[in-house]
Amino acid sequence: MDDYSADGPIVAEEDLNTRSLNVLKANDNGSHTTPTKIYPHQWLWDSCFIAIGLRHSNPERAAKEIANLVHGQWANGMIPHMIFNKDRKYRLERESWRSWLSPFAPDKLSTSGITQPPMLADAVVKVGAKMNATERREFYHYMYEPLVAYHTWLYAERDPHNEGLTLQIHPNEVGMDNTPPWVKQLYEHNYPWWIAAIEKLHLDPAVNFIRRDTRRVNPGQRISNMEALLLWDVVRRLRRKHYDIDKILHRSLFATEDITFNSILIRNNDQLRNIAKFLKRELPKELHSNMKQTEEALEQLYDPESKQYYSRDFITHKLIIEPSIGSLMPLYAGSISKERAEELVEMLKDHKQYWLHHPVPSVPLNSKYFSAERYWQGPTWVNTNWLIIDGLKRYGFEEEAEDLRQRTIAMVDSAGFYEYFSPIDGKGLGAENFSWTAALTIDLLNN
Ligand code: GLC
Repeated sequence: MDDYSADGPIVAEEDLNTRSLNVLKANDNGSHTTPTKIYPHQWLWDSCFIAIGLRHSNPERAAKEIANLVHGQWANGMIPHMIFNKDRKYRLERESWRSWLSPFAPDKLSTSGITQPPMLADAVVKVGAKMNATERREFYHYMYEPLVAYHTWLYAERDPHNEGLTLQIHPNEVGMDNTPPWVKQLYEHNYPWWIAAIEKLHLDPAVNFIRRDTRRVNPGQRISNMEALLLWDVVRRLRRKHYDIDKILHRSLFATEDITFNSILIRNNDQLRNIAKFLKRELPKELHSNMKQTEEALEQLYDPESKQYYSRDFITHKLIIEPSIGSLMPLYAGSISKERAEELVEMLKDHKQYWLHHPVPSVPLNSKYFSAERYWQGPTWVNTNWLIIDGLKRYGFEEEAEDLRQRTIAMVDSAGFYEYFSPIDGKGLGAENFSWTAALTIDLLNN
């Protein structure tokens, strides 16, 4: 690995910190921060990353950011991946999910009907670390029951066979909308005749008329129209079942035990245990044993032949052998052995796969899906870099963590606060002034 600090660009850190804070200020909606101006709602894992950055200058505001997510929590414990903006002009977006069809959805606001990677407990602990003991206790008290209810729901609904791994029912639950393993699954299991007809007749460009994202961002940097249709179709199916998991799974062909989601769950289970310990509370026994089981079950996602982890099809129990950045996420989980972590780091440092000039691409360079500018099929994202840096440090790979930290900061400093970046030339892609890029840059600068 080359030493970036020796010949890399010099970053004016204070200035970058101030510019990052300005991005967060511009996207601040009072009770929460939107991901960018063009995504006007609140997202679960975005707010967790945002709070992790905000805590350095304003822990109180950071706490408010994540406490606001609790307002969207469903009566069954689920924390939804989106809380919709109430403005009249977003009626169609609320309508597309119609959360009110579920008896568990909150009355006063509209949300989506799925969740997102459960980053909340880690964000709570990291924000709490910036508070004095009294404030921390108060904040942890406020968040404890909602967190226990959320993690309990994850096992009750999403681990129906008590196997230790939770299943996901829509790619958006993983936060990587068009990541190759999920695209593969969508094409194999979720291909209604009318979408096939649209594809055959090359009518998919017509979908651009109803897409909001491609009006503001170059369509070549977003998911394809076919992928957008397939994702929309999954929402339609979930909505028709009123988000009732038994009905959704009944004769379903489509559910995935995702490697990113389950790795993040393991780490956040650990943080929830830390919160309970601080408050001198006992976690429910069943939850406690479920948590332990997940750590062991993650090993079932390991493929000895390629020496990496993959997501698994919940129905067939077959690994989905399609490399993506998800394969590196067990580093963040922190529960795998040092030997496994070494294998993953070797893969990370391979110039033909992940160690490009602006690492870490969302898909390795040698994948048939690799496309430097297309969303979760090649670009480098600051949040996944942050998760990997954190994992590297946990396993003692200090040098690699520091190299990646510096490269990430330098990339943002020279390109700007983009949503994602080309791993080849570092060009900024997607939306500008993206909140988690700014927030996690602050966190990387302060660590
Ligand atoms: C996209 C991303 C997802 C993010 C959301 C809001 O859907 O794939 O990870 O949470 O935008 O920024």
